[in-house]
Amino acid sequence: MTEHILVLHGPNLNLLGRREPGIYGVQTLENINQQLQADAQSLGVELTIRQSNHEGQLVDWIGAALGQYVGIVINAAAYTHTSVAIRDAIAAVDLPTVEVHLSNIHKRESFRHHSYIAAVVIGQISGFGANSYRLGLRALVEHVRAGN
Ligand code: DQA
Repeated sequence: MTEHILVLHGPNLNLLGRREPGIYGVQTLENINQQLQADAQSLGVELTIRQSNHEGQLVDWIGAALGQYVGIVINAAAYTHTSVAIRDAIAAVDLPTVEVHLSNIHKRESFRHHSYIAAVVIGQISGFGANSYRLGLRALVEHVRAGN
């Protein structure tokens, strides 16, 4: 059976392309999602991709992921630095999760250096623009297939 993976985009990522292009690049979220769907096809996995500006919505989607998906790729955006609720949801479902960021959060303002979710994910990919998602997806698929 094809492995099904959940990709979550957090707040303001719907504005990609227009939003601070010097930091986040010029690709729209739709471009990124299309590329991810193409990658998923070559990797032989199925993707469900969702974006929300609302913390509770993201928490609900993570909570509902159990039994539906083999893993999660998440860019929690600003909630990365504030949300104990998203961290707890990831810990609760205990699905392999990869944290991704377009920008290198460690190179930016100090309030972006701390990630609440870093401690409950397999790993973090930060600073490669849209490629962070592509690398994150590949890393998750390899992790799941290695049976870790
Ligand atoms: C981000 C980095 C966060 O600090 C910021 O709040 C975002 C996007 C990134 O992808 O680089 O909205 O997660």
